Amino acid sequence: MDKIIIRGGKRLKGKVKISGSKNSALPILFASILTDEPSTIKNVPDLADINTTVSFMNFIGKKTLKKGSSVITFSSGNYKHIAPYDLVRKMRASVLIMGPLLARLNRVDVSLPGGCAIGARPIDIHLEAFKKMGAQINVEGGYVKMSAPEGLSGAEIKFRFASVGATENVMLAAVLAKGVTKIINAAKEPEICDLSDVLNKMGADVKGAGTKTITIKGVNKLCGFTHNVIADRIEAATYLIACALTKGEITLENAEPAHLKAVTAKLKKAGLLIKEKNGAIYAKWVKDLKPQNINTAVYPGFPTDVQAQWTALMCLLKGKSKICETVFENRFLHVAELLRFGAKLITDGKCVYVSGVENFSGAPVMVSDLRAGAALVLAGLAAEGKTVISRIYHLDRGYDMLEKKLKKLGADIKRIKNV
Ligand code: EPZ
Repeated sequence: MDKIIIRGGKRLKGKVKISGSKNSALPILFASILTDEPSTIKNVPDLADINTTVSFMNFIGKKTLKKGSSVITFSSGNYKHIAPYDLVRKMRASVLIMGPLLARLNRVDVSLPGGCAIGARPIDIHLEAFKKMGAQINVEGGYVKMSAPEGLSGAEIKFRFASVGATENVMLAAVLAKGVTKIINAAKEPEICDLSDVLNKMGADVKGAGTKTITIKGVNKLCGFTHNVIADRIEAATYLIACALTKGEITLENAEPAHLKAVTAKLKKAGLLIKEKNGAIYAKWVKDLKPQNINTAVYPGFPTDVQAQWTALMCLLKGKSKICETVFENRFLHVAELLRFGAKLITDGKCVYVSGVENFSGAPVMVSDLRAGAALVLAGLAAEGKTVISRIYHLDRGYDMLEKKLKKLGADIKRIKNV
Protein backbone atom coordinates (compact mmCIF):
# COMPACT_ATOMS: atom_id res chain seq x y z
CA MET A 1 0.00 0.00 0.00
CA ASP A 2 1.12 3.60 -0.61
CA LYS A 3 2.22 5.95 2.15
CA ILE A 4 2.67 9.71 2.40
CA ILE A 5 5.81 11.14 3.96
CA ILE A 6 5.77 14.74 5.22
CA ARG A 7 8.58 16.79 6.72
CA GLY A 8 6.61 19.54 8.41
CA GLY A 9 7.29 23.16 9.28
CA LYS A 10 7.05 24.69 5.81
CA ARG A 11 4.76 27.72 5.37
CA LEU A 12 2.37 27.15 2.47
CA LYS A 13 2.54 29.91 -0.12
CA GLY A 14 1.07 30.32 -3.58
CA LYS A 15 -1.98 29.34 -5.59
CA VAL A 16 -4.02 26.15 -5.58
CA LYS A 17 -6.81 25.22 -8.00
CA ILE A 18 -9.82 23.72 -6.26
CA SER A 19 -11.25 20.70 -8.06
CA GLY A 20 -14.87 19.90 -8.79
CA SER A 21 -16.98 18.66 -5.88
CA LYS A 22 -16.91 14.89 -5.24
CA ASN A 23 -20.25 15.12 -3.43
CA SER A 24 -21.85 16.94 -6.33
CA ALA A 25 -20.31 14.89 -9.16
CA LEU A 26 -21.52 11.58 -7.69
CA PRO A 27 -25.31 12.25 -7.69
CA ILE A 28 -24.98 14.02 -11.08
CA LEU A 29 -23.34 10.95 -12.58
CA PHE A 30 -26.23 8.82 -11.32
CA ALA A 31 -28.70 11.37 -12.75
CA SER A 32 -27.43 10.56 -16.27
CA ILE A 33 -29.11 7.13 -15.90
CA LEU A 34 -32.46 8.97 -16.09
CA THR A 35 -31.99 9.67 -19.79
CA ASP A 36 -31.06 7.54 -22.82
CA GLU A 37 -29.40 10.54 -24.45
CA PRO A 38 -25.67 11.26 -24.19
CA SER A 39 -24.53 13.64 -21.42
CA THR A 40 -21.26 15.38 -20.53
CA ILE A 41 -20.27 16.17 -16.95
CA LYS A 42 -17.31 18.58 -16.69
CA ASN A 43 -14.98 19.65 -13.85
CA VAL A 44 -15.15 16.14 -12.38
CA PRO A 45 -12.36 15.50 -9.83
CA ASP A 46 -9.94 12.64 -10.45
CA LEU A 47 -10.82 10.47 -7.44
CA ALA A 48 -11.20 6.81 -6.55
CA ASP A 49 -14.92 7.35 -5.82
CA ILE A 50 -15.45 8.75 -9.31
CA ASN A 51 -13.68 5.76 -10.87
CA THR A 52 -15.81 3.43 -8.72
CA THR A 53 -18.96 5.17 -9.94
CA VAL A 54 -17.88 5.06 -13.60
CA SER A 55 -17.31 1.30 -13.40
CA PHE A 56 -20.56 0.87 -11.46
CA MET A 57 -22.50 2.71 -14.18
CA ASN A 58 -20.91 0.59 -16.92
CA PHE A 59 -21.83 -2.51 -14.90
CA ILE A 60 -25.46 -1.34 -14.65
CA GLY A 61 -25.52 -0.82 -18.44
CA LYS A 62 -24.94 2.92 -18.79
CA LYS A 63 -21.90 3.27 -21.08
CA THR A 64 -19.68 5.82 -19.33
CA LEU A 65 -16.24 7.15 -20.22
CA LYS A 66 -13.81 9.38 -18.33
CA LYS A 67 -11.98 11.88 -20.56
CA GLY A 68 -9.65 14.13 -18.53
CA SER A 69 -11.83 16.05 -16.11
CA SER A 70 -15.00 15.20 -18.05
CA VAL A 71 -17.21 12.15 -17.86
CA ILE A 72 -19.29 11.28 -20.89
CA THR A 73 -22.30 8.97 -20.77
CA PHE A 74 -23.75 7.47 -23.94
CA SER A 75 -27.22 6.54 -25.03
CA SER A 76 -28.14 3.14 -23.68
CA GLY A 77 -31.28 1.81 -22.19
CA ASN A 78 -31.03 -1.81 -21.07
CA TYR A 79 -30.07 -1.42 -17.46
CA LYS A 80 -29.49 -4.17 -14.90
CA HIS A 81 -31.65 -3.71 -11.83
CA ILE A 82 -29.15 -5.20 -9.40
CA ALA A 83 -26.41 -3.31 -7.51
CA PRO A 84 -24.17 -6.00 -5.98
CA TYR A 85 -22.47 -5.95 -2.56
CA ASP A 86 -18.91 -5.88 -3.89
CA LEU A 87 -19.67 -2.60 -5.67
CA VAL A 88 -21.90 -0.96 -3.04
CA ARG A 89 -19.59 -1.79 -0.09
CA LYS A 90 -16.76 0.13 -1.82
CA MET A 91 -18.73 3.35 -1.85
CA ARG A 92 -21.85 4.15 0.17
CA ALA A 93 -22.98 6.74 -2.36
CA SER A 94 -23.85 3.77 -4.59
CA VAL A 95 -27.24 3.81 -2.82
CA LEU A 96 -28.00 6.78 -5.10
CA ILE A 97 -28.58 4.20 -7.84
CA MET A 98 -31.94 3.43 -6.19
CA GLY A 99 -33.75 6.58 -7.32
CA PRO A 100 -32.78 6.46 -11.00
CA LEU A 101 -33.33 2.69 -11.42
CA LEU A 102 -36.69 2.79 -9.64
CA ALA A 103 -37.65 5.65 -11.94
CA ARG A 104 -36.49 3.85 -15.10
CA LEU A 105 -37.15 0.15 -14.38
CA ASN A 106 -39.78 0.33 -11.60
CA ARG A 107 -37.55 -2.04 -9.64
CA VAL A 108 -34.10 -2.23 -8.07
CA ASP A 109 -32.22 -4.66 -5.83
CA VAL A 110 -29.41 -2.91 -3.97
CA SER A 111 -27.08 -4.51 -1.48
CA LEU A 112 -27.35 -2.83 1.91
CA PRO A 113 -24.23 -0.65 2.02
CA GLY A 114 -23.24 -1.55 5.57
CA GLY A 115 -21.67 0.95 7.91
CA CYS A 116 -18.37 2.70 7.66
CA ALA A 117 -15.79 4.11 10.05
CA ILE A 118 -17.86 7.17 10.90
CA GLY A 119 -21.11 5.43 11.69
CA ALA A 120 -23.82 2.86 10.95
CA ARG A 121 -25.16 5.12 8.21
CA PRO A 122 -28.60 3.56 7.84
CA ILE A 123 -30.79 4.32 4.82
CA ASP A 124 -34.18 4.25 6.58
CA ILE A 125 -35.03 7.80 5.48
CA HIS A 126 -34.42 6.85 1.83
CA LEU A 127 -36.58 3.70 2.12
CA GLU A 128 -39.47 5.36 3.96
CA ALA A 129 -39.60 7.94 1.17
CA PHE A 130 -39.66 5.35 -1.62
CA LYS A 131 -42.42 3.49 0.24
CA LYS A 132 -44.50 6.69 0.32
CA MET A 133 -43.96 6.95 -3.45
CA GLY A 134 -45.48 3.49 -3.94
CA ALA A 135 -42.48 1.17 -3.86
CA GLN A 136 -42.88 -2.24 -2.25
CA ILE A 137 -39.79 -2.94 -0.18
CA ASN A 138 -38.36 -6.05 1.33
CA VAL A 139 -34.97 -6.70 2.80
CA GLU A 140 -33.54 -10.18 2.36
CA GLY A 141 -30.08 -11.67 2.06
CA GLY A 142 -28.47 -8.30 2.71
CA TYR A 143 -30.30 -6.73 -0.21
CA VAL A 144 -33.04 -4.12 -0.33
CA LYS A 145 -35.44 -5.29 -3.04
CA MET A 146 -37.82 -2.61 -4.23
CA SER A 147 -40.48 -2.64 -6.92
CA ALA A 148 -43.23 -0.31 -8.10
CA PRO A 149 -45.10 -2.25 -10.82
CA GLU A 150 -47.40 0.73 -11.51
CA GLY A 151 -44.45 3.13 -11.44
CA LEU A 152 -43.69 5.65 -8.69
CA SER A 153 -46.24 8.30 -7.69
CA GLY A 154 -45.57 11.71 -6.21
CA ALA A 155 -46.00 12.05 -2.44
CA GLU A 156 -45.51 14.50 0.40
CA ILE A 157 -42.42 13.31 2.30
CA LYS A 158 -41.30 14.78 5.63
CA PHE A 159 -37.70 13.86 6.56
CA ARG A 160 -36.97 13.27 10.24
CA PHE A 161 -33.43 14.48 9.44
CA ALA A 162 -32.26 16.63 6.53
CA SER A 163 -30.33 13.76 4.95
CA VAL A 164 -28.22 14.79 1.93
CA GLY A 165 -28.31 11.36 0.28
CA ALA A 166 -32.02 10.82 0.92
CA THR A 167 -32.83 14.25 -0.56
CA GLU A 168 -30.79 13.39 -3.66
CA ASN A 169 -32.29 9.89 -3.97
CA VAL A 170 -35.86 11.18 -3.78
CA MET A 171 -35.10 13.93 -6.31
CA LEU A 172 -33.65 11.32 -8.68
CA ALA A 173 -36.78 9.15 -8.30
CA ALA A 174 -39.44 11.87 -8.31
CA VAL A 175 -38.49 13.60 -11.58
CA LEU A 176 -40.09 10.75 -13.59
CA ALA A 177 -42.83 9.85 -11.07
CA LYS A 178 -46.53 10.44 -11.73
CA GLY A 179 -47.63 13.65 -10.01
CA VAL A 180 -46.00 16.00 -7.51
CA THR A 181 -43.48 15.11 -4.80
CA LYS A 182 -42.81 17.48 -1.92
CA ILE A 183 -39.77 16.95 0.30
CA ILE A 184 -40.15 18.71 3.65
CA ASN A 185 -37.02 19.23 5.76
CA ALA A 186 -34.84 18.63 2.68
CA ALA A 187 -31.07 19.02 2.85
CA LYS A 188 -29.96 22.48 1.66
CA GLU A 189 -26.33 21.76 0.73
CA PRO A 190 -24.91 23.39 -2.45
CA GLU A 191 -24.63 19.88 -3.93
CA ILE A 192 -28.45 19.62 -3.77
CA CYS A 193 -28.74 22.84 -5.79
CA ASP A 194 -26.20 21.58 -8.32
CA LEU A 195 -28.20 18.36 -8.79
CA SER A 196 -31.42 20.36 -9.14
CA ASP A 197 -29.78 22.53 -11.85
CA VAL A 198 -28.81 19.38 -13.75
CA LEU A 199 -32.27 17.79 -13.45
CA ASN A 200 -33.93 20.99 -14.69
CA LYS A 201 -31.45 21.13 -17.60
CA MET A 202 -32.67 17.60 -18.43
CA GLY A 203 -36.26 18.85 -18.62
CA ALA A 204 -37.37 18.07 -15.07
CA ASP A 205 -39.42 20.45 -12.93
CA VAL A 206 -37.62 20.84 -9.59
CA LYS A 207 -38.25 23.90 -7.42
CA GLY A 208 -36.98 24.99 -4.02
CA ALA A 209 -33.54 23.36 -3.97
CA GLY A 210 -31.44 25.09 -1.30
CA THR A 211 -34.50 25.63 0.89
CA LYS A 212 -36.09 23.16 3.32
CA THR A 213 -38.93 22.36 0.92
CA ILE A 214 -38.32 20.95 -2.55
CA THR A 215 -41.23 20.41 -4.97
CA ILE A 216 -40.81 18.11 -7.95
CA LYS A 217 -43.41 17.73 -10.68
CA GLY A 218 -42.89 14.42 -12.51
CA VAL A 219 -42.41 14.53 -16.31
CA ASN A 220 -42.49 11.75 -18.90
CA LYS A 221 -39.00 11.95 -20.33
CA LEU A 222 -35.64 13.57 -19.64
CA CYS A 223 -32.95 14.58 -22.14
CA GLY A 224 -29.15 14.60 -22.06
CA PHE A 225 -27.21 17.49 -20.53
CA THR A 226 -23.84 19.20 -20.28
CA HIS A 227 -22.87 20.52 -16.86
CA ASN A 228 -19.91 21.95 -14.97
CA VAL A 229 -19.79 20.53 -11.45
CA ILE A 230 -19.47 23.13 -8.66
CA ALA A 231 -16.18 23.56 -6.77
CA ASP A 232 -15.45 21.27 -3.84
CA ARG A 233 -16.17 23.35 -0.73
CA ILE A 234 -14.67 20.72 1.59
CA GLU A 235 -11.40 20.63 -0.34
CA ALA A 236 -11.34 24.45 -0.24
CA ALA A 237 -11.92 24.48 3.52
CA THR A 238 -9.13 21.93 3.97
CA TYR A 239 -6.59 24.14 2.17
CA LEU A 240 -7.66 27.22 4.13
CA ILE A 241 -7.02 25.32 7.36
CA ALA A 242 -3.66 24.16 5.98
CA CYS A 243 -2.80 27.83 5.41
CA ALA A 244 -3.79 28.70 8.98
CA LEU A 245 -1.85 25.77 10.45
CA THR A 246 1.37 26.51 8.55
CA LYS A 247 1.16 30.32 8.96
CA GLY A 248 1.07 30.63 5.21
CA GLU A 249 -0.41 32.78 2.46
CA ILE A 250 -2.44 31.10 -0.29
CA THR A 251 -4.98 31.86 -2.97
CA LEU A 252 -7.65 29.29 -3.79
CA GLU A 253 -8.64 29.46 -7.47
CA ASN A 254 -11.93 28.08 -8.84
CA ALA A 255 -13.37 28.16 -5.32
CA GLU A 256 -16.93 29.24 -4.48
CA PRO A 257 -16.72 31.48 -1.35
CA ALA A 258 -20.49 31.46 -0.86
CA HIS A 259 -20.41 27.68 -0.22
CA LEU A 260 -18.07 27.74 2.75
CA LYS A 261 -19.26 30.81 4.70
CA ALA A 262 -19.55 28.87 7.98
CA VAL A 263 -15.86 27.89 7.78
CA THR A 264 -14.48 31.25 6.58
CA ALA A 265 -16.51 33.04 9.26
CA LYS A 266 -14.87 30.93 11.98
CA LEU A 267 -11.40 31.36 10.45
CA LYS A 268 -11.85 35.14 10.27
CA LYS A 269 -13.04 35.19 13.89
CA ALA A 270 -9.91 33.23 14.81
CA GLY A 271 -7.80 35.93 13.13
CA LEU A 272 -6.92 34.55 9.68
CA LEU A 273 -6.96 37.29 7.02
CA ILE A 274 -9.40 36.17 4.30
CA LYS A 275 -10.49 38.08 1.19
CA GLU A 276 -13.15 36.63 -1.08
CA LYS A 277 -14.09 37.42 -4.62
CA ASN A 278 -15.97 35.52 -7.30
CA GLY A 279 -14.19 32.24 -7.92
CA ALA A 280 -11.29 32.88 -5.54
CA ILE A 281 -10.41 33.05 -1.86
CA TYR A 282 -7.18 34.69 -0.56
CA ALA A 283 -5.95 33.74 2.93
CA LYS A 284 -2.96 34.92 4.95
CA TRP A 285 -1.78 34.17 8.46
CA VAL A 286 -1.06 37.56 10.05
CA LYS A 287 -1.12 36.84 13.80
CA ASP A 288 -1.54 34.02 16.31
CA LEU A 289 -5.04 32.64 15.89
CA LYS A 290 -7.53 32.38 18.73
CA PRO A 291 -9.26 29.01 19.29
CA GLN A 292 -12.93 28.84 18.23
CA ASN A 293 -15.53 26.35 19.43
CA ILE A 294 -17.69 24.69 16.76
CA ASN A 295 -20.79 22.52 16.55
CA THR A 296 -21.15 20.73 13.24
CA ALA A 297 -24.57 21.01 11.62
CA VAL A 298 -26.39 20.52 8.35
CA TYR A 299 -25.87 23.26 5.75
CA PRO A 300 -25.46 26.17 6.14
CA GLY A 301 -23.97 25.23 9.51
CA PHE A 302 -20.35 24.21 10.06
CA PRO A 303 -19.82 21.14 7.85
CA THR A 304 -19.22 17.79 9.54
CA ASP A 305 -16.73 17.06 6.71
CA VAL A 306 -14.46 19.80 8.08
CA GLN A 307 -14.68 18.82 11.77
CA ALA A 308 -11.55 16.67 11.84
CA GLN A 309 -9.45 19.26 10.01
CA TRP A 310 -10.72 21.97 12.38
CA THR A 311 -9.78 19.83 15.37
CA ALA A 312 -6.21 19.53 14.08
CA LEU A 313 -5.99 23.32 13.83
CA MET A 314 -7.42 23.89 17.32
CA CYS A 315 -4.77 21.54 18.78
CA LEU A 316 -2.02 24.01 17.84
CA LEU A 317 -3.67 27.24 19.05
CA LYS A 318 -2.98 28.66 22.50
CA GLY A 319 -6.01 28.05 24.71
CA LYS A 320 -8.94 25.69 24.98
CA SER A 321 -11.65 24.79 22.49
CA LYS A 322 -14.64 22.47 22.19
CA ILE A 323 -15.65 20.76 18.97
CA CYS A 324 -19.00 18.97 18.91
CA GLU A 325 -20.18 16.58 16.20
CA THR A 326 -23.96 16.49 15.74
CA VAL A 327 -24.31 14.78 12.35
CA PHE A 328 -22.45 11.44 12.66
CA GLU A 329 -22.21 9.22 15.71
CA ASN A 330 -18.56 8.24 15.47
CA ARG A 331 -16.54 10.88 13.72
CA PHE A 332 -13.65 11.19 16.18
CA LEU A 333 -11.30 8.47 14.91
CA HIS A 334 -8.69 11.14 14.19
CA VAL A 335 -8.42 11.94 17.92
CA ALA A 336 -6.27 8.91 18.77
CA GLU A 337 -3.95 9.67 15.86
CA LEU A 338 -3.65 13.37 16.73
CA LEU A 339 -2.50 12.32 20.20
CA ARG A 340 0.48 10.66 18.52
CA PHE A 341 1.64 14.09 17.30
CA GLY A 342 1.57 15.35 20.91
CA ALA A 343 -1.92 16.89 20.86
CA LYS A 344 -3.79 17.37 24.14
CA LEU A 345 -7.43 16.44 23.58
CA ILE A 346 -10.07 14.18 25.03
CA THR A 347 -13.47 13.18 23.73
CA ASP A 348 -16.71 12.07 25.37
CA GLY A 349 -17.97 10.72 22.05
CA LYS A 350 -20.03 13.82 21.29
CA CYS A 351 -17.46 16.55 21.69
CA VAL A 352 -13.69 16.91 21.69
CA TYR A 353 -12.11 19.11 24.36
CA VAL A 354 -8.79 20.56 23.18
CA SER A 355 -5.98 22.25 25.12
CA GLY A 356 -3.64 23.82 22.60
CA VAL A 357 0.03 22.84 22.56
CA GLU A 358 3.09 24.74 21.28
CA ASN A 359 3.93 22.29 18.54
CA PHE A 360 3.52 18.81 17.13
CA SER A 361 6.31 16.35 16.49
CA GLY A 362 6.06 14.12 13.44
CA ALA A 363 4.91 10.52 13.93
CA PRO A 364 3.80 7.43 12.03
CA VAL A 365 -0.04 7.56 11.84
CA MET A 366 -2.86 5.67 10.16
CA VAL A 367 -5.90 6.98 8.26
CA SER A 368 -9.32 5.65 9.32
CA ASP A 369 -11.60 7.62 6.99
CA LEU A 370 -11.37 10.33 4.37
CA ARG A 371 -11.63 13.50 6.44
CA ALA A 372 -9.72 12.08 9.42
CA GLY A 373 -6.96 11.45 6.91
CA ALA A 374 -7.04 15.08 5.86
CA ALA A 375 -6.62 16.07 9.49
CA LEU A 376 -3.51 13.88 9.77
CA VAL A 377 -1.98 15.42 6.65
CA LEU A 378 -2.60 18.89 8.09
CA ALA A 379 -1.03 17.84 11.40
CA GLY A 380 2.00 16.49 9.53
CA LEU A 381 2.40 19.78 7.64
CA ALA A 382 2.61 21.63 10.96
CA ALA A 383 4.66 19.03 12.86
CA GLU A 384 8.42 19.24 13.39
CA GLY A 385 10.19 16.31 11.79
CA LYS A 386 8.92 13.41 9.75
CA THR A 387 5.38 12.07 9.56
CA VAL A 388 4.55 8.80 7.81
CA ILE A 389 0.87 8.35 6.94
CA SER A 390 -0.45 4.90 6.01
CA ARG A 391 -3.80 3.65 4.62
CA ILE A 392 -3.91 6.73 2.36
CA TYR A 393 -6.33 5.00 0.00
CA HIS A 394 -9.00 6.74 2.11
CA LEU A 395 -7.53 10.08 1.01
CA ASP A 396 -7.53 9.08 -2.66
CA ARG A 397 -11.31 8.78 -2.44
CA GLY A 398 -11.83 12.46 -1.85
CA TYR A 399 -8.76 14.62 -2.50
CA ASP A 400 -7.69 15.20 -6.10
CA MET A 401 -3.88 15.32 -6.47
CA LEU A 402 -3.44 16.13 -2.77
CA GLU A 403 0.33 15.77 -2.48
CA LYS A 404 0.93 17.45 -5.88
CA LYS A 405 -1.14 20.49 -4.85
CA LEU A 406 0.53 20.70 -1.43
CA LYS A 407 4.02 20.29 -2.94
CA LYS A 408 3.25 23.19 -5.32
CA LEU A 409 2.41 25.27 -2.23
CA GLY A 410 5.84 24.49 -0.78
CA ALA A 411 5.13 21.49 1.43
CA ASP A 412 7.82 18.81 1.78
CA ILE A 413 5.51 15.90 0.97
CA LYS A 414 5.86 12.78 -1.15
CA ARG A 415 4.01 9.54 -1.80
CA ILE A 416 5.92 6.29 -1.64
CA LYS A 417 4.32 3.44 -3.51
CA ASN A 418 3.62 -0.12 -2.41
CA VAL A 419 5.52 -0.18 0.84
C1 EPZ B 1 -23.27 13.00 2.47
O1 EPZ B 1 -23.37 11.70 3.04
C2 EPZ B 1 -21.82 13.16 2.08
N1 EPZ B 1 -21.44 12.14 1.10
C3 EPZ B 1 -20.93 13.02 3.32
O2 EPZ B 1 -19.60 13.28 2.92
C4 EPZ B 1 -21.34 14.08 4.33
O3 EPZ B 1 -20.58 13.90 5.51
C5 EPZ B 1 -22.84 13.93 4.65
O4 EPZ B 1 -23.60 14.01 3.42
C6 EPZ B 1 -23.33 15.03 5.59
O5 EPZ B 1 -23.10 16.27 5.03
C7 EPZ B 1 -21.80 12.35 -0.19
O6 EPZ B 1 -22.42 13.33 -0.54
C8 EPZ B 1 -21.37 11.29 -1.17
P1 EPZ B 1 -26.63 12.08 5.33
P2 EPZ B 1 -24.84 11.07 3.35
O7 EPZ B 1 -27.61 11.16 4.70
O8 EPZ B 1 -25.78 11.45 2.30
C9 EPZ B 1 -28.06 9.70 9.19
C10 EPZ B 1 -17.31 12.93 2.77
O9 EPZ B 1 -16.44 12.97 3.62
N2 EPZ B 1 -29.00 9.04 8.27
O10 EPZ B 1 -26.89 13.54 5.33
O11 EPZ B 1 -24.65 9.63 3.66
C11 EPZ B 1 -26.63 9.26 8.92
O12 EPZ B 1 -26.36 8.04 9.60
C12 EPZ B 1 -18.63 12.23 3.05
O13 EPZ B 1 -17.24 13.46 1.62
C13 EPZ B 1 -29.96 8.16 8.80
O14 EPZ B 1 -30.02 7.93 10.01
O15 EPZ B 1 -25.18 11.85 4.70
C14 EPZ B 1 -25.81 10.40 9.45
O16 EPZ B 1 -25.67 10.26 10.85
C15 EPZ B 1 -18.61 11.57 4.41
N3 EPZ B 1 -30.81 7.55 7.95
C16 EPZ B 1 -26.69 11.61 9.14
O17 EPZ B 1 -28.02 11.11 8.92
C17 EPZ B 1 -30.78 7.77 6.59
O18 EPZ B 1 -31.60 7.18 5.86
C18 EPZ B 1 -26.24 12.37 7.90
O19 EPZ B 1 -26.37 11.52 6.81
C19 EPZ B 1 -29.81 8.66 6.07
C20 EPZ B 1 -28.93 9.29 6.94
